Amino acid sequence: MCGIFGCVLHDGKQAAPLIHSALKRLEYRGYDSIGQVTVDGKTLFVKKDRGRLEEVDAKYNLDDMAGPTGVGHTRWATHGRPAQENSHPHTDCNSTIAVVHNGIIENYLEIKRELEGKGHRFLSRTDTEVVPHLVEQYVRDGMSLEDAFRKTVNRLEGAYSLVLTSTERPKTIICARQESPLVLGVGDGEYYCASDISAFLPITKKALFMDEGEMAVLDPKGIRIMKSRNGQVVRRDPVTITWDPESAKKQGFKHFMLKEVHEQVQSIKDSIRTLPIYYDLFASKIVDAERVFIVGCGTAYHAGLVASQALAKLAQIDARVIVASEFAEEALDLVNDETVVLAVSQSGETMDTLNAVRDAMSRGASILSVTNVMGSTLMRLSDVYIGQNSGPEIGVAATKTFTSQVAVLLRIAAAVGRRTGKVPVSRITEVEKGLHETPDIIQDLLNTKVEVVQRIAESVNNAKSICFLGRGINVPTALEGRLKLLELSYIPVIAYPAGESKHGFISLIEEGFPVVFIAPMDETHKRIIGNIMEMKARGARIISVIQEGDREIRELSDDVIEIPRSLPSLVTPIVYVVPLQLLAYYLSVGKGHDPDYPRNLAKSVTVE
Ligand code: F6R
Repeated sequence: MCGIFGCVLHDGKQAAPLIHSALKRLEYRGYDSIGQVTVDGKTLFVKKDRGRLEEVDAKYNLDDMAGPTGVGHTRWATHGRPAQENSHPHTDCNSTIAVVHNGIIENYLEIKRELEGKGHRFLSRTDTEVVPHLVEQYVRDGMSLEDAFRKTVNRLEGAYSLVLTSTERPKTIICARQESPLVLGVGDGEYYCASDISAFLPITKKALFMDEGEMAVLDPKGIRIMKSRNGQVVRRDPVTITWDPESAKKQGFKHFMLKEVHEQVQSIKDSIRTLPIYYDLFASKIVDAERVFIVGCGTAYHAGLVASQALAKLAQIDARVIVASEFAEEALDLVNDETVVLAVSQSGETMDTLNAVRDAMSRGASILSVTNVMGSTLMRLSDVYIGQNSGPEIGVAATKTFTSQVAVLLRIAAAVGRRTGKVPVSRITEVEKGLHETPDIIQDLLNTKVEVVQRIAESVNNAKSICFLGRGINVPTALEGRLKLLELSYIPVIAYPAGESKHGFISLIEEGFPVVFIAPMDETHKRIIGNIMEMKARGARIISVIQEGDREIRELSDDVIEIPRSLPSLVTPIVYVVPLQLLAYYLSVGKGHDPDYPRNLAKSVTVE
């Protein structure tokens, strides 16, 4: 997730200070690098570097760039670590075309090879840089700038919002969107484009929302929107925005956490876009290792638990998951240069995880990592890493982090499975296919089940405790449901493998004690029904997250949250966790707490 702002202003005005102030409002979307481009007649001015906005501004004075047209970008790295050369904008060979991008272009490598074959020189490791070069190539082939941009966009696979400026049309911005957001602003003879309306809200309240597969041309005459596929013009009237700047940042949601829960529909798609070659590299290291450990803390640890089961089921690989702060005591004596440690960390800066990694490195282990922050310490310590690619998460409680980490880890397990060849390929492809179905199912769930969860949250608002039970692959989901609820509601919450609950926990059950079962229709279904009956017989209030149409569990339960479709068992945590995130959110709000900033917690725990 990056932030983009572009503007076409009246002659004689300077775009740079306006871009700079808009980037301040967009910095929450990404903050590892900053860049601006302005066009003044036949000259393109570019300033960009890694670092936060104020650092880059102190170094380069972002306000001092000539020209009434320009674009700015605040980056959250996916391809290429934070570095000046990887910062946006990216330009063509002659520095006459500049492009900024938010999203991931999946087929960039093939385009890059093709363009290199035609003599184009690339300066960065980003996917974005293919765009200005491809436009340049089509212009060289005789097309107009607009047609060249449209043809380029039609070659791209993946997610993008793209904005282009060029010395050929210095008073014009051309932009396009596919999956990543882009909204246009209508001023008084001046026009804007941005990743979200918070960027231009202090300047204009009139917005034009772009749909998937559309592009737009902004120039002093106005805004022209068209379909990228065939150039057909689309007529649309601007709407007046009534949000204040703070709700605009949260896109109308009351809290960042709720916005991030909804963002999972997109973040999961982005997380599974990484090219297969990276997964193959991971897989080769894991298959060659004598021992594999997975380390992480909190939510990342829970994602690791899913990964361990997936590696066993898809690849018959034994990978032990260890809470990072316990790694030295539990496992260091077993680590040598034949060991692989797979570290999972959203921030890439969690001290406990880094300590485990450094300890393992001191014994010669290879380090693989899954992290959301390119350029983080964890990424730099790793032999190989894969980006979680879910964009900045502002709510302290990890939500899209869990689903993205699980998605990436399942893809890793699938790649390892293909390499070991010990389970039928059909089982692996079923999981990969299931992963691609999760965003739509979550969208359905968010469209239809939020009120159900809200009602359940209200009904358990005064509970002294709550318990989460699951089996198999949903034991980690139960643990994650517990973590979300306890950190946001401040009540003691319990989670167990459902089968273990009769070995002690069951003594807590009295009339009305809320027990949440995570119970998809998989191979654990029959046995979890037994556990539900044990709890019900002792007066527990049964709340079940089930697959739609599961009449047996529905009849046994006081409340159900139905998941709209079936999924391969290994993939279910990604979807079944979502109602648990919502439950934690609504309980926290119901108790009058701030779910974005729970007490005593920090987003990144950099102490032991
Ligand atoms: C829970 C939560 C924490 C983090 C943990 C690890 O909602 O956010 O438990 O998951 O502190 O953080 P990272 O993934 O940054 O290493």
